Order: sequence, then C-alpha cells, then structure tokens
Amino acid sequence: MSESDKEKQKLYYPSPELATTARVKNMEEYKKIWKHSVEKPREFWAEEAKMVDFFTPYKEVWTGSTDDDFVGKWFTEGKLNVAYNCIDRWVEKGFGDEESLIWMGEDDTIKSYSFSQLKDEVSKAANALKSLGVKKGDRVCLWLPMISELAIIMLACARIGAIHSIVFGGFSAESVKDRIDDSECKVLVVADEVKRAGKAKPMKINLKGIIEQCPSIEHVAVVKVTGNPTYEYEKDVDFSALMATQSADCPCEPMDSEDVLFILYTSGTTGKPKGVVHTTGGYLVYGMSTNKYVWDYSCLLDLKGAEPKDRDVWYCTADIGWITGHTQIIYSPLALGAKTVMYEGTPTWPHKGRFWEICQKLGVTHFYTAPTAIRALMKYGAEEVNKWDLSKLKMLGTVGEVCNWPEWKWYWDVVGKGTGGEKPVGRPIVDSYWQTETGSYMMVNFGSITPMKPGSCTFPFFGCNPVLLNEEGEKINTPMTQAYFAYDMPWPGLMRTVWGDHDRFVSTYLTKFKNHYFTGDYAQIDEKGYYFILGRSDDVIKVSGHRLGSAEVEAAINSHDAVAESAVCPYPHSMKGSTIFAYVTLMSGVEGNEELKTDIVKHVRAMAGPAVKPEVIMFSDALPKTRSGKIMRRVLKAIALQGDIGNVMTLANPEVVQALVDERAKLGEIKF
Ligand code: WTA
Repeated sequence: MSESDKEKQKLYYPSPELATTARVKNMEEYKKIWKHSVEKPREFWAEEAKMVDFFTPYKEVWTGSTDDDFVGKWFTEGKLNVAYNCIDRWVEKGFGDEESLIWMGEDDTIKSYSFSQLKDEVSKAANALKSLGVKKGDRVCLWLPMISELAIIMLACARIGAIHSIVFGGFSAESVKDRIDDSECKVLVVADEVKRAGKAKPMKINLKGIIEQCPSIEHVAVVKVTGNPTYEYEKDVDFSALMATQSADCPCEPMDSEDVLFILYTSGTTGKPKGVVHTTGGYLVYGMSTNKYVWDYSCLLDLKGAEPKDRDVWYCTADIGWITGHTQIIYSPLALGAKTVMYEGTPTWPHKGRFWEICQKLGVTHFYTAPTAIRALMKYGAEEVNKWDLSKLKMLGTVGEVCNWPEWKWYWDVVGKGTGGEKPVGRPIVDSYWQTETGSYMMVNFGSITPMKPGSCTFPFFGCNPVLLNEEGEKINTPMTQAYFAYDMPWPGLMRTVWGDHDRFVSTYLTKFKNHYFTGDYAQIDEKGYYFILGRSDDVIKVSGHRLGSAEVEAAINSHDAVAESAVCPYPHSMKGSTIFAYVTLMSGVEGNEELKTDIVKHVRAMAGPAVKPEVIMFSDALPKTRSGKIMRRVLKAIALQGDIGNVMTLANPEVVQALVDERAKLGEIKF
C-alpha cells in the first residue's frame, strides 16, 4: 500500500475539546440514540418536535407505516408557521436585538439584521405580496441572485402561507417559464440586474418574449439591484418601492403541519424537472434536528453557556436556489436561533481568498461548502488561506458530491489545521450526504465526535436506516460491494410528493424497492461500517455540485435548428467533478464544424442557463440504441472515456459503436 493509500484509510479525529460541549457526547451515546430513533421513531421525533412552537399542538407524530403508507403524515393537525419559528418567537422571548441573518454584498456592504429588524422586513415584504393578491396556498416564483431580498421574500411567503418556488439564478428564463407553468405561479419576483465580479449583468431582460407566455402570472415583482433601465413589461411592479410603503405588521398565517412550505424543482430522468414538495412541520423539525446535533453550534435554542451576542457564526456558501441554501442558510439555522451568514458573490472575486476573508471579518465558527469550491480554491495554494485569521473556526463541512482525497486532505491540512501521525486530530470536516428530496442530511458525521474517513459520509443521522440492495432488492452485507442505496423507513423531512404528479413521486422513489425510499445513488460500506457514496445510478449529472438531468440538457441541444438528436453523459473534470460530454447527430445535409459547435454551446446556454454548458461536442451519425429505442448511456460513457465498452449484444444498431469509437479517437486525449 502506498503512503497516500495508508493516509486515506486512516481515521481522523475531531479536536477533542469539541466533545466536551457536544450535545451528543460520544459514539456510544450516538449509537444508543440512533438505535432508539429507528426502533421507536414516534418517540424520538416527538421529543425533537419540542423544539418547534406550534400554535395548536399536533395529534399524532406519524400516521404512516413502512409496509403500507410509506411516507405518511407527520405531526398531524398541528398548526404552526415556519417564519414565526424562525423569527417572531425569538423576538417574543426577548432576543429581538440579537443578530439573525448577516448578509454581505460583493462590495463589502454588510447588512446585519437583528431578529426584530428581520421581522419588520419580512412583514413588509409579506404585506407587499398580499397587496398583489397573494394568498395562502398561492405559488410565488423567485428568480433572484443572492441578495438579501431573496431571504426576506422567501420568509415572507412562509409568513403568509404562500408556496415559494425558487429558481437558481444561473438557470435560463426558459427554465423559469417551465417551472412557473408547472406550478401555476401567480407572481414572479425577479431582479433588474445581477452584480457579478464588480459588473452589472442583465437578468430581467432575459425574460423578454418569455414571460408574456406565462398565463398564470399576474404580476412581475421587480427588485431593484442596480436600478439601471431594463425590459419593461405591463405586469411589472416595482417591488422595492412597494415594500417601502408597507406596514411592518403582518400576522403569521397558521399552517397545518402538512401544508406545503415550498416547491423546489430538481432534475430527474426525464426532460421535465420534478417539483419536489416539502411541507411545514416535518421539514422544519428535521432540518433543526440535523443542524443542532451535527454542528453543535450555540444558538438561541441552546446557548450552551454563551451570551446571545457571542453565539457561534454559521456560514453556508451555497446558493439559495438549491436545497442547501433553503435548509442550511435560512430555515434550520434561523429556527434554531443561530447567526447565519449569506454572501452575495463568488469565492474568487475580488480576490482568491474571499471565503476566508469573510470568515475572518464575520468571525465564522462553522463553515460549510462544496467539494467543487474546495477544488477551485486549493489551486491557489495555502497562502490565500493563511493570510487570514481563521482562529474562530471550529468546524468545516461539505455537501453535494464526494469529497475526494486530494481536496479532503487540503481542507484538513490547510483550513482544518489538522495534524498527521497515527492519530490525526484537527477541525472536523462534516461530510453530509442528502438530496433535494430528503430535506436535510441522511448520512453525516457528527462534527464533535465522529471519527472521520476521507471520502466517507460515515453513518446515518437519527431516524434514518440505510440499506444496500441488489437488483432483486436483497440486502448486500458484503463490504466494498457496490449496491443500490435505499432507506427502509421515512423521516419527517422527506418530500411528500412531486407537485401535480403523485404517481411520478411513487414511481421514481418508492417503486424500485418495495417499502423503501430509493435515492438513485450507488453506495458501499467498508468493514467498519463507514458508508461511501459511489455516484448516481440514473441519468443525473453533477456539474460543480449542481444537479442536471441528461434529458434536460439534451432537450436544450435538440432545440438547435441544426440538431436532429443528441445524448449527453458525464465526463471527469478536475475542478467541477464532472462536465458534460455531448454526442450530437446533425440534420441531414448540415456539416459539423468548430463554428457549429460553438454555436450549439451558445444556444444551450441561452436555453438552459449559464450553469449548463457542454464542454465536449462530438458529432455522430447515429447513437447506440436498444431495440426499444432507448439510448444506451452506459456505452456512451465508456466511449467518451475510451474505456471498456462491454457487451453490446442488446443494441439494435451495434455497428454504430465502432464508428463512435473511431470518431472519439480523433478527438485525442481530453483533460479538464
Ligand atoms: C450527491 C444536494 C456524495 C448524491 C444536497 C445525491 C453526495 C445528490 C453527497 C443530491 C455527499 C450529495 N457525498 N454524494 N456528501 N451529497 N451527493 O439534490 O448523488 O442537489 O443523490 O442535493 O448529490 O443532489 P441535490
């Protein structure tokens, strides 16, 4: 075994002082509570639900049963409001002047909201939405950059019981339209422009010609970021001005535990993104529970001896357009009464050490990012980190994809100040595994106590019971064997349905393995019971941690006039984890050349957004298909990687394979 292999397989330990104030003191206690949580989930979740203030107490913790109604209902007939739990209750308990959300702009502006100030802003936004006719149950689409209004307006929706559907700012106006149409949003909130790396970039103007085709939209609420002139539409409302005239008094709508809190669209195996539905009570309890135990930060719910003003500072670098931003920047930390940081810009502007500068400036104690960001930053070396005073940092974390050894090691050594030797000790790296669908973490190390293994998301969170299954649904207990990754019981934060398509929810997640939630991932376990995620078993591609569906990317490529058909597959990328490799069949008579490739890429970006960019395009006369006409992606992946193609007997057109292999050879070695 090489030195680095040995290093990789060691156990790494959190700094021992963390355990002294941990909520779960050691691994024995973790195991005991975990056992109780899966054997007696109703008892366990009843205890956790005490963290939430219900207006009317719930009747039953969980109505489901794992062999009949798998997901069931949680905290039935309870009445509560998420914004009330995130904001008002802290004001009522006398913490109105304490910091809640700390927003930092690209230009260094800091807006630190006390709970009282946040309550006022959210109430004004809520009244502004009401004045546009938004009521409980209505859908509001938010397509915004990481400005403070995004946080405020999402909380405003929660306050009045409107359902928000946030679309990542890096997606296209076309994707916004699809999402608006699917859930029939009444109002779209959009920014005039976006600030990126010191420049103003257009946002609203991209809606020209598209928003007019969204019949459900009654108003387009425009948040002024730059105030520069942009495309004006007859349904526009100046939301910034409207908010300014509103009263700061707006009651919180009592919501049923099972009322929808938000819809968040995510990619799946078909071209149509799925509207993942999260509800009020279960999502809130689960998010709070995961954050409290895993990160152990001091917060108003449990100050752990700190003064309210000296609470820990939590910084999650995700964009609110993804589930990570919803659960980990806004809802869970605020409901716990934490100080939570939101940053407008990118990690490398105006300099390469921006994240670390923010940590110093705001006194960050808990820092949570994605492996793709670590890979981007590690290339600038340790100097960019060491320039800053990171002495307040206690814990680090990652989410979204496997944190592989090179970036894990760099994070441990340089940011974590971890030691080497037989028993390495340092700032823990929390590896959290979860999905848009699951609300919050299902596999995760408890920062203060769990010994870590690089690349492993370690063990299950309370109430989660993971199983590894083969194609027939039989359990696989052999270590280091790839298997389908599923869960044999639900937890309160699991999605409830796909918006408008419950059958799709059941068929995507609950059908492959009866009485199980299937994640779509492959995983394996090692001899010590550590879990390792091995990637997707379906057509989801992760680019820079962003989840993209093959079919959506293909639909964007296919809408180019010169294209007859296409198929995409993931291709390894040193920074992004994966990038997109596209096979494109052109319309007959069209000649494939470099210029056309550039044009296709440009077109895809316009159709699907700047986050979606095929980096390799290979023209091919035909694609390998099964007799039922399905593209065989396994073969395409192998050809792209110039690897072993395996058995192609089931193909309807095996002869195309050789042609593709030859074509691929002409492109030579491709390295990103
Ligand atoms: C992958 C992000 C390995 C996985 C919160 C999952 C991970 C998909 C990890 C969900 C991790 C997420 N280690 N893989 N710690 N976390 N994934 O919906 O494939 O954007 O199914 O949610 O990301 O991506 P999503």
